[in-house]
Amino acid sequence: LPYLLVALAIGYLFGSFPSGLVLTRMAGLGDVRRIGSGNIGATNVLRTGRKGLAALTLLLDALKGTVVVLLAGRYGQDYAAAAGLGAFLGHLFPVWLGFKGGKGVATYLGVLLALAWPGALLFAAVWLLVAFISRYSSLAALTAAVCVPIALYVMGYSQVALLFLLMSVLVFFSHRANIGRLIQGKESRIGVNG
Ligand code: G3P
Repeated sequence: LPYLLVALAIGYLFGSFPSGLVLTRMAGLGDVRRIGSGNIGATNVLRTGRKGLAALTLLLDALKGTVVVLLAGRYGQDYAAAAGLGAFLGHLFPVWLGFKGGKGVATYLGVLLALAWPGALLFAAVWLLVAFISRYSSLAALTAAVCVPIALYVMGYSQVALLFLLMSVLVFFSHRANIGRLIQGKESRIGVNG
């Protein structure tokens, strides 16, 4: 058990690196938390108008999850899962930002890629489909978060399914403001200013 906590802690350190905040600052755009939804993730970085920077944010926020899971996986599946959960929690609740981090969608995808790659393919397909139809990044993420644990269970990844059920619940929690805006019809769409 102590070693599982070490894996969780190392995952947390990786996950708590706020790619979007660092990249937008380096690009001289100021604090991304002052624009759009106030989030530090790729969707909100996109609202600065910098598509490349948004893509890089998505890539780095996903990769930090993938990398730490693969590293921990050398010691076994349980360590991989613990590190993945740690990375996701680190992104949502980074100590460096007063525990106010991102919404965890990219990191969820990165961890999923390393733990059960077919699940990541499904996530990407559902996300793209819903985003294409609705233009809501948040709705796409929420729909994918419902589908993934079910699909993992059906595909026979029962333990990973349980982990992602927990992470999906946290995705709903981190999107609580988005859910409110979706219900009120006030959520901003991708490709539309606001
Ligand atoms: O990945 C986060 C996305 O689902 C919502 O982001 O900035 O619109 O709250 P945002």
